[in-house]
Amino acid sequence: MAYFEWADDMVIDGGVIDQDHRLLVDLVNELHSATSRGAGQTVVASILRRTIESTREHLAREENIMAQQGFPELDGHRQGHQAFMDSLYELERQLQSGGITVATQLSRVLRDWLSLHIRRNDKELRRFQLRRAREQRRVAAATARTPVIVPRLN
Ligand SMILES: [Fe+2]
Ligand SMILES: [Fe+2]
Repeated sequence: MAYFEWADDMVIDGGVIDQDHRLLVDLVNELHSATSRGAGQTVVASILRRTIESTREHLAREENIMAQQGFPELDGHRQGHQAFMDSLYELERQLQSGGITVATQLSRVLRDWLSLHIRRNDKELRRFQLRRAREQRRVAAATARTPVIVPRLN
């Protein structure tokens, strides 16, 4: 069983966002196996760097999707992303300055944040999309019921 297991309740859009999340889950697992087999700081630092880059790209992509779709809670969501990036940079800084105990914390911090953020915060986007689809269907059904008045031509 993987350290960070992908689960169906993490599905958001069945598309780009899920692909990104799966990649991040894989990176956390890679980081965890590196730290638990006692890999050197250089190896850990390089996996962490890739994880940070992929996370940064993912968060930007997700914010763009949210903005395009008019997701109403985007501002608060963005703040959560920013706080997480700040903590990742701080962990990287601590790792570079030789805080060896940090290495073992890395995968746990990443896993816990991602797991919670996806299941709780990113899920808001899914709920919003479902609400919007329901509303569109309701409007379409109401429009279909409206009688069409055809003007006479003569
Ligand atoms: Fe996300
Ligand atoms: Fe997010």
